[in-house]
Amino acid sequence: MAGSILIKDGLLVDTEWVRHEDILIEGEKIKRIAPSIDENDVPEGTSIISADGKCVLPGLIDAHTHYHLVSRGTVTADSFLEGSKLASYGGVTTVIDFADDDKKSLSSSLSKRLDEMKDMAIDYALHQGVYKWRPDILSELEEVKKMGVGTIKIFTTYKDVGYLIEDKSQLEEVFKDSSDLNLMVSVHAEDDDVIRRAGEEYSGNYGPESHPVLRPSEAEAVAIRKVGDIAKKYSMPLYIVHLSSRKGLMEVRKLRSEGVRVIVETTPHYLFLDKSYLSGENGPLYVMTPPLRSKDDSEALREALSNGEIQVVATDHCAFTRAQKLESNDVRKIYPGIPGTEEMLPLLHTFALSNGHLSLSQIVNLLSTGPAKAFGLYPRKGVLREGSDADVVIFDPDESWTLSSETVHSASGYTPYEGFNVTGKVQMTILRGRIVMGDDIYLGIKGDGKFIEATR
Ligand code: URP
Ligand code: ZN
Ligand code: ZN
Repeated sequence: MAGSILIKDGLLVDTEWVRHEDILIEGEKIKRIAPSIDENDVPEGTSIISADGKCVLPGLIDAHTHYHLVSRGTVTADSFLEGSKLASYGGVTTVIDFADDDKKSLSSSLSKRLDEMKDMAIDYALHQGVYKWRPDILSELEEVKKMGVGTIKIFTTYKDVGYLIEDKSQLEEVFKDSSDLNLMVSVHAEDDDVIRRAGEEYSGNYGPESHPVLRPSEAEAVAIRKVGDIAKKYSMPLYIVHLSSRKGLMEVRKLRSEGVRVIVETTPHYLFLDKSYLSGENGPLYVMTPPLRSKDDSEALREALSNGEIQVVATDHCAFTRAQKLESNDVRKIYPGIPGTEEMLPLLHTFALSNGHLSLSQIVNLLSTGPAKAFGLYPRKGVLREGSDADVVIFDPDESWTLSSETVHSASGYTPYEGFNVTGKVQMTILRGRIVMGDDIYLGIKGDGKFIEATR
């Protein structure tokens, strides 16, 4: 049960303002934000925390995670408990994970996932995968919406694993029904035909370096155009997950110039890693879908981030153990996905310091306010405001440290950012008024996380 906490003398960073103020938390909510709150003016027993020299941010939201993903005959390394822990170390108080479509019933797929997630120690929301059209899709979507989900997820690839809705009119119907219900449509955009053709034309070896050749950036651009045309036809917004390429970005720009509202998410790996990591014996550790691309692609995404063309940074955290990843050197067999939730804030902060074009407020927008607004969690989440959930992060902007398997907490046993020197470290993470991580000690409680229903 949360008591009350007074955080004094911190630099509060919100999307819309940055000020030195105190913040009083009572129970699960932010009670007061004011320039100076007297210690005698708070409930008896209030814990007083000094944030002098530190930044105070709204709890971060990782809007794209796959904790405990059962896939390809195995399960990912980070369970919901382990995911909660590593997220707390990264200042993340809410994750948005995915409910796979069992192709029988969306509501039962969702109920099953909710049941699996009940151990979470931080808050969570869900996107609902839709992998098959059915005659009663409208009422199925309506049911999912009533159960608190605000987004569906569509794939334009993965025909081999049964995620692709191939029939254009069926896909359009899913878009239109979602629009009618005010459900956001999010898309993993890689065109399956382009990928199939690239595979047919390819005659080299299948080491990790072949991945960007087998899944070229044209596939992303073509898929964005196709789903963008549907969004345009129905005058609806469109959310593109994990944008990875300059070509994809160019299509987003075109769609926007035609009046389509495109919300773009990218990930730290497309911003700060590139395909050179796929060479060498550790290449399999860097395999995910879409693949890492050229330095030019990551540069384009970093520019777009600074320009405000990207609204959300999320991680696509999908961790397999080092041993699992290295089981095969054949990219057709390597489990796709990498960890990242915990590294997200220090990586972005370090980038902001080095390029000088991204403010702390913009970082808060990308990692908290942006996803809260896109997915209907705002203003309960994503903002430092009286009455909002007391999800608060105390962040030391000056601490330098090195990302390594020794300093982060994923059960995968590795970080793709091994050896990266970063500036900025989370000192304390508070979830609805309770400290879940402080002074490097994890204090999360199994089952304390709440399912946060989308209100869109
Ligand atoms: O390789 C990845 N990204 N695995 C997770 C599933 C997805 O496509 O987002
Ligand atoms: Zn994806
Ligand atoms: Zn994903």
